[in-house]
Amino acid sequence: MRVVSGIQPTGGLHLGNLLGAILRWVRMQDDGECLFFLADLHALTVEVDPEQLRANVREMAAALIASGVDPARAILFRQSAVREHAELAWVLQGTARMGWLERMTQFKEKSGKNKERSSVGLFTYPVLQAADVLLYHATHVPVGEDQKQHLELARDIALKFNNDFDTELFTLPEPFVGGGTAARVMSLRDGSAKMSKSDPSEMSRIQLTDSDETIAQKIRKARTDPAPLPADPSELAGRAEARNLVGIMAAIQDRPVEAVLAEFAGQGFGAFKPALADALIALIAPLRARLEQLRSDPAEIDRILEVGAERARALAAPTLDSAYRAVGLR
Ligand code: TYM
Repeated sequence: MRVVSGIQPTGGLHLGNLLGAILRWVRMQDDGECLFFLADLHALTVEVDPEQLRANVREMAAALIASGVDPARAILFRQSAVREHAELAWVLQGTARMGWLERMTQFKEKSGKNKERSSVGLFTYPVLQAADVLLYHATHVPVGEDQKQHLELARDIALKFNNDFDTELFTLPEPFVGGGTAARVMSLRDGSAKMSKSDPSEMSRIQLTDSDETIAQKIRKARTDPAPLPADPSELAGRAEARNLVGIMAAIQDRPVEAVLAEFAGQGFGAFKPALADALIALIAPLRARLEQLRSDPAEIDRILEVGAERARALAAPTLDSAYRAVGLR
């Protein structure tokens, strides 16, 4: 089992990232060889502030370590430090088809009405993502629901490359999406939108850096409805905000939604919200404290990332070499 996944170093780490991906990465460190990276090349597809990007890479690396990614057990690095990612992405641009990329919902969402003014990189972004996982022969790619389509594309690219060049070079990666709400944590302000770092409202998401006070306030103000909680999960249908909050509780406590509802059935959000805030604070406060400690030693973060990059390069170089050979570049 080879586990590979990445996160963009834009904005801070939020609850959607934590439940959908990072805490699942942490659990997988015992199951197989893991490579986790900061997708800083992907961050170039939207507007770039160089100083901000430099700072964000360190901050996100520290946030991952604070959340439990262990550089002694997993290979942690920044994507741009391993040039094989960009080189393989270029080779795979010859394999990926325009029509496949045009179907990507994330490009449609991110480019919006301004498709003509979007960067070319935003369009070909999933090809780089395919290179990220194919370089390391990933078998499992733990991600949130929103990345599933990109990984299905990575499978299509791998399959076509293997067929076109009569090779078995690339392993078909399996998108590994968690269950329940963890797969898609929704905004606290709108149960139909995913929790996202690009949402202009800070109140829509819980950040790893939020104080206990702020967490409690965001949950107090989270949108809900006036009905009491039901005993049966099926009765949460049509109540997107209620379902999301109950799902978050279930994911944090690692127990089924049924168990959460058994405890709160018949009660309103006046009772449920304080319990949820407490559970969130219990999860986040220790991670936030570790993050604050790690921030005081940026040289150590740089060192960890450099060691990780060295190890990643050793795995990536032979794959790139084989890909060059397969297409006739060697
Ligand atoms: P990114 O940086 O947007 O998000 C990092 C991880 O967090 C998950 N996630 C969520 N999960 C549940 N609910 C949410 N509201 C939520 N928001 C984010 C994402 O699914 C992701 O797993 N393209 C990727 C980064 C990437 C990558 C890769 C991932 C680059 N190369 C190779 C896997 C493999 C991205 O922008 O994730």
